[in-house]
Amino acid sequence: EWNSGSVIAEQVERIREQIGDARVICGLSGGVDSAVAAALVHKAVGDQLTCVFVDHGLLRAGEREQVENDYVASTGVRLITVDAEQQFLDALAGVTDPEQKRKIIGREFIRTFENAAEALVLEAKAEGGEPVKFLVQGTLYPDVVESGGGSGTANIKSHHNVGGLPEDLEFELVEPLRTLFKDEVRAIGRELGLPEVIVGRQPFPGPGLGIRIIGEVTRERLDLLRQADQIARDELTAAGLDEEIWQCPVVLLADVRSVGVQGDGRTYGHPIVLRPVSSEDAMTADWTRLPYEVLARISNRITNQVPGVNRVVLDVTSKPPGTIEWE
Ligand code: XMP
Repeated sequence: EWNSGSVIAEQVERIREQIGDARVICGLSGGVDSAVAAALVHKAVGDQLTCVFVDHGLLRAGEREQVENDYVASTGVRLITVDAEQQFLDALAGVTDPEQKRKIIGREFIRTFENAAEALVLEAKAEGGEPVKFLVQGTLYPDVVESGGGSGTANIKSHHNVGGLPEDLEFELVEPLRTLFKDEVRAIGRELGLPEVIVGRQPFPGPGLGIRIIGEVTRERLDLLRQADQIARDELTAAGLDEEIWQCPVVLLADVRSVGVQGDGRTYGHPIVLRPVSSEDAMTADWTRLPYEVLARISNRITNQVPGVNRVVLDVTSKPPGTIEWE
């Protein structure tokens, strides 16, 4: 019978054997897999592990704080946060094509992570300490199967996983979740005492809010979208719908404007799209039949509280033919 306690003990033993006295790094994305993988490695080798979190400015409200405060408090991992918002915004300036956005975000992410890793390698050398030899990856069993045992997957969209392996960095991989399914990873995370906001998190794409702004990505638009996204998430959680919903992308149609009326004035603002989906594995999905009252609350709050947004619309497309994300 499957038991999270014994899986943890077994993995800790293995990780110690593999890593020995060397140092190890791990890219945290804010998601479940990297968080649990890093927590296991930390339990095994303590401060031989350094985690790197890239804040690319495309995160949702509160995500950075959840990693920097809650996650660090519950695990005690050494964490380096890289502030890369401006770098990503500069790289994305003027770009509207979805595939190009994904490529740019992926490229900048790898660059940023590589630089941070290189700095750690050099620091270890300068100190004359143990070398950095290992990189932790939160690869799950389905990822292993899907890619035929190797790493990396082919998709319709050029997916990149935050925390993905830069090809020319020579680290040996530590993959403590390689035999596990998502539910098991969550159970282990809970057993290790990780915060529920991280362990219970719904899927969120590596390119973040960058692919939920239809049009150019700017700081102002990101701020609007963050507010709208936060409202939708709060209301869905308050209505007890987190279990039923696989995820609910909130999308800003930055290149579309429509006429509205608010107070005594005409407005000319942007629509926000709600994309609640139900799914087993994200390969196919159906749009979630949310209660009208919940939709009404989300719509009222977004149009009242988010400046520049004067309309909320609901996406009622399944996958296929629609994908879950809009880009
Ligand atoms: P689509 O839009 O292809 O999304 O139906 C399927 C699932 O994958 C997530 N997604 C991503 N996850 N990097 C990720 O780590 C990505 O580039 C990426 N693109 C989409 C999406 O949120 C959904 O859960």
